[in-house]
Amino acid sequence: MAHPLKTDAEVLSRTAEGAYHRLVLRAPGVASRVRPGHFAALAVGGPQSALLMRRAFAVHRADPAAETIELVIAERGPGTRELTRARAGDRLDLIAPLGTPFPLPEGPVSALLVGAGHRAAPLLDLAAEIAARGGRIGFVLAAATADRLYGVERARALTPDVLVVTEDGSAGLTGRATDPLAQAILAIDATVVHASGPVPMLREASTIAQGLAARCWTAVEERMACGTGLCTTCVLPVVGPDGVSRFVGSCTDGPVFDGAKVRWKDIGTVPADLAGADGGGDPGRWPGEGAA
Ligand SMILES: Cc1cc2nc3c(=O)[nH]c(=O)nc-3n(C[C@H](O)[C@H](O)[C@H](O)COP(=O)(O)OP(=O)(O)OC[C@H]3O[C@@H](n4cnc5c(N)ncnc54)[C@H](O)[C@@H]3O)c2cc1C
Ligand code: FES
Repeated sequence: MAHPLKTDAEVLSRTAEGAYHRLVLRAPGVASRVRPGHFAALAVGGPQSALLMRRAFAVHRADPAAETIELVIAERGPGTRELTRARAGDRLDLIAPLGTPFPLPEGPVSALLVGAGHRAAPLLDLAAEIAARGGRIGFVLAAATADRLYGVERARALTPDVLVVTEDGSAGLTGRATDPLAQAILAIDATVVHASGPVPMLREASTIAQGLAARCWTAVEERMACGTGLCTTCVLPVVGPDGVSRFVGSCTDGPVFDGAKVRWKDIGTVPADLAGADGGGDPGRWPGEGAA
């Protein structure tokens, strides 16, 4: 886990971008700690707010020199609605960076980045880091409609290998993110896929990547309450290095997981063979814990 800071971040700007809002926040000390895949947990509504739980947002960009981080907000309910009305000068109670980021390669690799809607936000800095290490990158950016795509221009500034897909055909190919995935992996000989999107997309991307002998890192977006490992709201079943499945916290061990280890079909259930479940093995230790 990262070493997060709790800070009173200042909103420097809010910009509408398609269906989303991009917030630039000054958060001294935070940006230098952020790696692609980390997220921030924001308290919304101020100290008198009835919105008790923090809201989680992937860090889109981090600029240590300017001491800023950027978040891309899709309006969903009361918390995100409030953030899409933020004004320059507002203060936001923020904890970041949180979670386990995407693993970065030591040297050059060929990597395909697959993002659905606003969930593409953390992939752009990741792609820039892979390119800076001499790697080759390609993108598949998908959404239901053209206005829900995110990051297409910045992706095109990083690589000519950008495939755009929309379900209604309003931009690029018509279809879903995973439709051109195999072709896109083969086109750049990708040995690793980084995917960020809804669970069905991640599950399919992981299966396709494995079928082509590529590693697939997946950034999940499970519902979260605390964001810091205390409440177990965000757990999902993952196969550990010992071959035993356990519930692990997507806010601490994730949100980035090896897609081959996540039991996608069992998310939202308690599989009978899960450690600690009826019929399962010894709950044992959670990943990262040392021997007793
Ligand atoms: C690791 C992570 C990264 C995320 N990154 C982004 C991002 O970059 N941009 C973006 O727009 N959204 C992102 N989300 C989703 C965002 O957290 C939810 O849309 C937001 O919490 C909804 O709050 P609300 O009050 O508007 O909606 P409500 O549905 O009213 O939220 C009610 C409660 O449910 C929780 N909740 C609801 N939906 C989600 C969800 N999808 N994920 C987690 N908790 C949820 C909230 O924390 C809150 O406690 C991310 C979620 C996670 C877990
Ligand atoms: S959100 Fe509370 S443990 Fe993950």
